[in-house]
Amino acid sequence: MDYVRDDLAALYPWFGIRVAHAGLVLTPPTDVELLEIAAFVAEPGGVLAPGGEHFLTRPMGDDDAARVFLERSWSLRRFPTAGGGWRVPFAVLDGGRAVGHATLDAAGRPGEVATSSFLARPERGRGVGRRVRLMLLELAFGALGMTRAVTAAAEDNHASLRVSHRCGYRETDRRRHADGTPEVHLAVTPGAWRRRRLEGVVVEGTEPFVAVISPASR
Ligand SMILES: CC(C)(COP(=O)(O)OP(=O)(O)OC[C@H]1O[C@@H](n2cnc3c(N)ncnc32)[C@H](O)[C@@H]1OP(=O)(O)O)[C@@H](O)C(=O)NCCC(=O)NCCS
Repeated sequence: MDYVRDDLAALYPWFGIRVAHAGLVLTPPTDVELLEIAAFVAEPGGVLAPGGEHFLTRPMGDDDAARVFLERSWSLRRFPTAGGGWRVPFAVLDGGRAVGHATLDAAGRPGEVATSSFLARPERGRGVGRRVRLMLLELAFGALGMTRAVTAAAEDNHASLRVSHRCGYRETDRRRHADGTPEVHLAVTPGAWRRRRLEGVVVEGTEPFVAVISPASR
């Protein structure tokens, strides 16, 4: 499959990024990995516990949700620009198996990235979510030179909020999401992240992407 990723990386530089830590790998998904992720997105209870859980903006648990996931993922396949406006999706691979999805999104203020992620439900609660977040921050702060990372979660999304706090985020404000769900917004700076930094994260393949997004290339 790597030759597909290499061919994609030749056209879309972010496809060459790889972030690894102790068996966990974040890398932009090919269609094979997208379909693996779409399979648990479509499964009732595959991502969210039936009933109470809110995942802002994303439907889950049926074939429509899988189609929305795939169509959004395909829409992200764009050439990045230096003025911000790039989004990099990642498959979360554990021992080569797709167990989740994450996104790094620079659509906000200069120097700022937003992160989001979800895992297949059986994979939750064993520290993968925290490692994924710290791996994204290693990429954003360590390799891409970003200066602030933000995230948001429904007020009752205790796992996501706990991950954010453990990674050094502080609450910035609370608002209602478009669907009415009360949500908490949080932010972290490189200084606060560095105190929680994960040892041994390996970030590779960022140079062609950095060359395109750095202000000097404008
Ligand atoms: C949010 C998510 C990515 C976190 O991943 P994870 O692997 O479950 O997280 P971790 O195991 O690294 O950490 C979860 C933390 O929350 C805590 N937690 C989990 N459920 C909790 C609850 N109901 N109340 C309080 N704390 C809770 C865990 O104890 C753990 O804290 P600890 O590290 O101090 O023990 C994952 O749960 C998920 O995919 N959720 C569904 C999608 C989603 O909500 N994504 C975020 C969108 S805004």
